[in-house]
Amino acid sequence: MAKRRSIPALTLSALVALGGSSLAMAHGDVTPQGVNTDGLPTLGQEWPDTNPYRDTDAFERAVEIGSSAYNQNCARCHGLEAISGGIAPDLRLLAPDFDGDDWYKYRVINGAVRDGKVYMPKMADYLSQEALWAIKSYLDVRHDEME
Ligand code: HEC
Repeated sequence: MAKRRSIPALTLSALVALGGSSLAMAHGDVTPQGVNTDGLPTLGQEWPDTNPYRDTDAFERAVEIGSSAYNQNCARCHGLEAISGGIAPDLRLLAPDFDGDDWYKYRVINGAVRDGKVYMPKMADYLSQEALWAIKSYLDVRHDEME
């Protein structure tokens, strides 16, 4: 798995090394886009272990918000509609359960930085917890659609 990912990651770091905005030119916006989470229950400071919108009345709204938030903030690396074009992992593979949520949470909070190179920014520095769980809700639906 690590081997399969190392080539795209190198390509990405080469693009970033060219001056940050080259990715933006290749894939869309470089600045994380604010997400309007009106209509979603607010979550406070603490991150729950699993998607707090799953199995609630708010799920449908979360998916709707998450779909556009994903396409504005994640698609340029992870692919339109979460179908990976090879630059970064296919996020449809994340399971809609504790394991998938836990890994998702870890990555959006910590990003992916190795040897000082930023492969993925710390998205939680730019987007609210509500927006990020909305994106996970959208990914849960994309996961189910894949099966
Ligand atoms: C600048 C490109 C970039 C952007 C923007 C980006 N990611 Fe990533 N992401 C990556 C790369 C590259 C990896 C693989 C990192 C690694 O394996 O070291 C990754 C890994 C992940 C992982 C772990 C997946 C796995 O299978 O291991 C998750 C979850 C994730 N990203 C979520 C997101 C979400 C959600 C967004 C938008 C809010 C986002 N990413 C935006 C590049 C990006």
